[in-house]
Amino acid sequence: MATTDIIEAFKRAGQGHVFAFYDELDTAAREHLLADAAEIDLDETARLHRTLVAGNASAALNFDGLTPAPYEPLPENGGDAAAWAAAKTAGEDALRAGRVAAFVVAGGQGTRLGYDGPKGTYPVTPLKKKTLFQVFAEKIRAAGLHYGKPIHWFIMTSHVNHAATEAFFKQHDWFGLSPSRVHLFRQGRMPAVDPNGKILLETKSSIAMSPDGHGGSLRALQRSGALDIMEREGIDTLSYFQVDNPLIRVIDPAFIGWHLLRRSEMSSKMIPKAYAEEKIGHFCIQNNRLVVVEYSDLPMALQKETDPATGRLRFIAGSIAIHILDTKFIRRMAAGGGDVELPFHRADKKIPTIDAAGNPVKPEKPNGVKFEMFVFDAVPHAKNPVIIETLRANDFSPVKNAAGLDSPKTCCEDQLRQFARWLNANKAPVETDATGLPKITVEVSPLFGYDEDTFAESWNRLPTKPAVADGLYLE
Ligand code: UD1
Repeated sequence: MATTDIIEAFKRAGQGHVFAFYDELDTAAREHLLADAAEIDLDETARLHRTLVAGNASAALNFDGLTPAPYEPLPENGGDAAAWAAAKTAGEDALRAGRVAAFVVAGGQGTRLGYDGPKGTYPVTPLKKKTLFQVFAEKIRAAGLHYGKPIHWFIMTSHVNHAATEAFFKQHDWFGLSPSRVHLFRQGRMPAVDPNGKILLETKSSIAMSPDGHGGSLRALQRSGALDIMEREGIDTLSYFQVDNPLIRVIDPAFIGWHLLRRSEMSSKMIPKAYAEEKIGHFCIQNNRLVVVEYSDLPMALQKETDPATGRLRFIAGSIAIHILDTKFIRRMAAGGGDVELPFHRADKKIPTIDAAGNPVKPEKPNGVKFEMFVFDAVPHAKNPVIIETLRANDFSPVKNAAGLDSPKTCCEDQLRQFARWLNANKAPVETDATGLPKITVEVSPLFGYDEDTFAESWNRLPTKPAVADGLYLE
């Protein structure tokens, strides 16, 4: 679009103030502002303001007839052991055939953690202080070696952290992966608006834009050409995870197998919620469709309800943001149209901006609204969705907060507990406290073992077993 057309379109949409300082900008600054403006879908912005800001969006939340979603329990919790075994075999076949890629959403910054940089560059392991990205890279590399087929890894970054993420991978030689199989791409951005729907400027020459949420990954996979790479490589199954969780089994054959055998388009892992107030999403059934209801949306009375027969929470199935996605489904969702579009959610934020005179304003309370999409809103659109149970100890210990729950400390301890369980299961005794936390600090490289089975294989293959003592590193 020509410069004048862009400016005219903004004026027509009541957003002419975006160019209030245009005349005083130099050429580079003008180009910068125009490039930001060109990313914005003005109709979409107006619609979101109308529905989510001006309208009362929470009135639209209606939980009548909401019921808990069914899931496949683990064999040790009464699940069908033969079905789990068949799933594992099917998943392993798909991995040997090279049909599966890993996909991490890493567009967020470590703001809550108080960490300035891409969250994936945060060190998390107990002994070697490996970063989140290194842990995932080694798990992916190890699984590729295990199945005799290297695994592609797709990494979604955002405008804020793309360059830093790429530089980090280069600096670390792609952690032993072939750079031709590591694909970084940027997610889209959305403008922030004030309560009247006016797009906020960050500076005279830039618009306050922010990542469009992890749900933006579906559009971004399409737009970036990532789906075309997958098609070329014969990949039809994506293992989706978040950057904050180093415990995740990035490649889990049984999960992949459940997804494939059930011909599911989007599958999910659940853990039983630890307590009613736990801040995770809930798998529910609404109007015969599977949905995920965020902890902030589900009324606390429902979160606290218990099943009279078992005494357990009724809405027990917690979403830990681990999914398997079918690539054709992603294409369909990304194309949108009709009701297959992901909805946007609003988040009220303190957004640094400028005043009418162009002076910087650092707000002390929320002054604007950001719009984000959530990937789990794709679940109701998927055919044959499957939810399987997993053990928290095997799959989930995120690093979200600087201290307390879900912090570097709790995550480190959960890694140590896992290493201790693996050693103890292989007749290498490690003394632990009542919570399973070992008294010594040990670390297992994913290249030695990335789950119980691969750990046992490597351990049993060792001609002489090392002494299990403080500082033991198995690689
Ligand atoms: C999220 C889920 C919650 C789930 C929990 C499990 C939401 C709204 N809630 O909470 O249901 O139980 O994780 O840990 O997602 N990201 C992007 N781009 C963005 C925004 C986020 O790539 O624009 C990525 C982040 O890098 C991160 C992940 O998405 O990997 C999660 O984002 P975050 O905002 O930390 O989600 P939570 O509120 O912790």
